[in-house]
This record gives sequence, structure tokens and C-alpha cells, in this order.
Amino acid sequence: MKLVKTPDEVRAWRKTMPTLALVPTMGFLHEGHLSLMREGVKRAGVCAATIFVNPTQFGPKEDLSRYPRDLEGDLAKCESAGVSLVYAPEPASVYPAGYQTYVTVDDVSQGLDGASRPGHFRGVATVVAKLLALFRPDVALFGEKDFQQLQVIKALTKDLELGVEIVGQPTVREADGLAMSSRNAYLSKEDRQKALGLSRGLFRARDSRERDAEKVKAMIRAELGEVREDYVAVVDSETLKPISKIEARPARALVAAFVGTTRLIDNVAL
Ligand code: PAF
Repeated sequence: MKLVKTPDEVRAWRKTMPTLALVPTMGFLHEGHLSLMREGVKRAGVCAATIFVNPTQFGPKEDLSRYPRDLEGDLAKCESAGVSLVYAPEPASVYPAGYQTYVTVDDVSQGLDGASRPGHFRGVATVVAKLLALFRPDVALFGEKDFQQLQVIKALTKDLELGVEIVGQPTVREADGLAMSSRNAYLSKEDRQKALGLSRGLFRARDSRERDAEKVKAMIRAELGEVREDYVAVVDSETLKPISKIEARPARALVAAFVGTTRLIDNVAL
């Protein structure tokens, strides 16, 4: 496995690869990321990963400086998942002085995390567009845990005609249901227990087969317990617009909540 830090090194390597899968990450890798990498190898034969804590997707009061990092551990995990190249650039190489180009995706970036984290999806869309333009992969893989992010990336890829297949992969969970997330590292033992309210509520709502969105949301809220709700939503899976009845079109329940100071998100298909 090769580790590179500059766009020129990526371009030189890319020329030698007939087909390629890409898994962009912010590092501190867990089983969710590794399942994307293994699937990437399966789909394209060769998989590259990126590790970059992208400053433009963090708000001024968010956790950029304390976001967990472990490059050495991450490289070992990438290697074990069959990754051929890891790109881990410095922020000044991705956003050099004078950088001024950003990508905004309108509709699906509104509401939910887009409302709670202004500018977040502009940062995500910008860095993902840059990585897709640099690597020109055949397929790029993202986790469904960040469900709105996945829809934003699908929209930008389609609208900018990047010709990359975007694949969403199911959320990987701990044995007790907690969705895997690098931010779980912030949770104390006690908070980790409280955080189970998110998945418990979502599973209860899904398993109830209830079709009325208000009742679905009430079920989720009932399980949140001491966790402070940011939002609970039932939306159309593609447009992410709120719906009142779950009918023929695919629907999704999403929740964001603060466990202590840690903001967690999770979602399920209904
Ligand atoms: O999901 C993430 O880890 C990040 O938002 C992504 C897609 C790598 C962009 O920085």
C-alpha cells in the first residue's frame, strides 16, 4: 500500500490504474469505513482511500481541532481492508492561499443537518468534488449513516456530470445497535449508554410499521430519554422533504441529538 500527500502523486498513480474505487474519509477509521473499502475492492479491483479532516465542513464552534486522529492506526486498517493507495494531504495543499472555489448543492442541503450546521454541506460538497475530480474513480462509496451527505453527493455528481457511480452502503452498528462513528470516541461510558436512545427509537419506529409520520416521530422521541434532540424527521428518501404519511415511495426516519456535548446522527429506512 502506498501513502501519498500531493495531488501530483495521485495523478501519476491514477494513470497506472485501469479501474478505481474511492473511499473518502476523515480518518479515525472504524468497521463502517473498512466495509466501504472492502466493497470498493470488490467492485473495481483497486480501491484508494483518502484521509483528510476537512476544515471547510466544520462550523466555527464545532470540533475541528479536537476531531480524533490516528494516521498510523488508520494506515494499518486500510492495508488490512485491501486498499492500494491512501491520500492524506495537508490542509494547505487542499486549500492553498487564495483558494476561492466552492460547490453548493441547493435543495437536498436544506433542512436537517443543513439547518443545524450552516455551511457544512458546502464544505462536504467542495472537498468531495475536488477528490472526485482528482481521482476520477469509476465508483465512490459512502456510508448511509450520513444519509443527507449521501444525497448531497449523489446530486453534485449528477449535476456536474462527473460520471462516477455513487454507492451508499448500510450503516455498520455495534452489537447493541449504536451506529459506528468516529465521534463515538468522545463518549464517556455513561454517555455511550445514553446514546443507545437514538438507534432504539429508530428501530422501534421501523419495526412498528406505523405509517403516520407524527406517530413515528413520537416513538423515536419516547426513546431518546436524557439525550437532547436536535431534530427528529420523517422524509422522502430522495428529496429529503418531510412527509406526513409513509406511502409507496421510500421513506427515511432521521435523528440528530446531543449526548452531553457530542452531536450524534442516525437514520433508518421505513
Ligand atoms: O463522511 C465523511 O467522513 C466526510 O464528510 C467526507 C465525505 C470524507 C468529506 O470530508
